[in-house]
Amino acid sequence: MLAAHAVSQSASDPLSGLVVGERPDPQPRPGWIVVDVKAAALNHHDVWSLRGVGLPADRLPMVLGCDAAGVDPDGNEVIVHAVVPSEGWQGDETLDPRRTLLSELHDGTLAEKVLVPAGNVVPKPEGMAWETAACLSTAWLTAYRMLFTNSGVQPGGTVLVQGAGGGVATALLQLGAAAGYRMWATSRDEARGQRALGIGADRVFASGERLPDRVDAVMETVGAATWSHSVNALRPGGTIVISGATSGDAPAKAELTKIFFKQLRVVGSTMGTREELGRLARFVGQSGIEPVVDSVLPLAQARDGFARMVDGDVFGKVVFTVGG
Ligand SMILES: NC(=O)c1ccc[n+]([C@@H]2O[C@H](COP(=O)([O-])OP(=O)(O)OC[C@H]3O[C@@H](n4cnc5c(N)ncnc54)[C@H](OP(=O)(O)O)[C@@H]3O)[C@@H](O)[C@H]2O)c1
Repeated sequence: MLAAHAVSQSASDPLSGLVVGERPDPQPRPGWIVVDVKAAALNHHDVWSLRGVGLPADRLPMVLGCDAAGVDPDGNEVIVHAVVPSEGWQGDETLDPRRTLLSELHDGTLAEKVLVPAGNVVPKPEGMAWETAACLSTAWLTAYRMLFTNSGVQPGGTVLVQGAGGGVATALLQLGAAAGYRMWATSRDEARGQRALGIGADRVFASGERLPDRVDAVMETVGAATWSHSVNALRPGGTIVISGATSGDAPAKAELTKIFFKQLRVVGSTMGTREELGRLARFVGQSGIEPVVDSVLPLAQARDGFARMVDGDVFGKVVFTVGG
């Protein structure tokens, strides 16, 4: 089958280890099913894997990808859930210390077929486009849990999203606006900031710019470059929800004094549960949200999509279509 896979890793030149070519079809495994992929989407996670972060070199070659939608062996249209719990784990799978994401231990979704545990799919809402469904498994699920499970903010509250253009960031803006939050965003790039206004941001600021008011929560995926601004942006008692650190995980200042003096909460957030993915799919279907898609490419041209993400050029999700 055709698959985008990692054959080697390089921190400085991630594309050097990417191959878009043939891999063996998945072998049947008891309790697991093969999903015929119709569309799959790219996440920064796939770039981290090529840089050697989170994917041990002894597991290569590895098919990349966490996001996909496709058809299960019974002909049902499904969305793949990327969080694979360890054998026998009960309860919230994101809290399983031995859980992995597809493409970390088991081959991922950027392929014509993907093998997943039979429980790792949710129904694709009727009428939802494959390209939309393919966006939901990772960035959108992460955004859903950050906002609705971990931020503690009620509709009407104000939420700041650091970085406007990314997959998680655009998902946060679209979901938050649809749920009645006042969404603010920052961006390094004026044009991306302007686009954020068109997808639900109420106001947009340059990275690091002083805000006119303190916010109830900050959604942080940028990390070192925006950490101090996130701490300063919050009202006393506010919450930073952090799910990523694209610019580095060691900020120049940890801001510990401000964190305790303002009684801030710092909440880590990773992916989401299968139940949350099901609710997210229904919410997107019912509210008619159309995830912002940066570009749609055939899987055979996956390298171009990876290059856009490595260059930091994306606005929304990069989606790959599979088959005819
Ligand atoms: N924990 C989890 O479960 C989970 C799930 C999904 C993603 N993540 C992590 O979250 C991060 C974002 O993922 P993604 O897929 O959304 O990536 P992406 O599409 O590449 O987005 C990158 C984002 O970071 C911003 N950014 C990057 N460098 C910056 C800098 N130096 N200063 C300011 N802003 C910067 C960009 O905003 P502008 O260009 O508009 O400024 C953009 O919003 C990644 O680190 C990823 O690993 C974690």
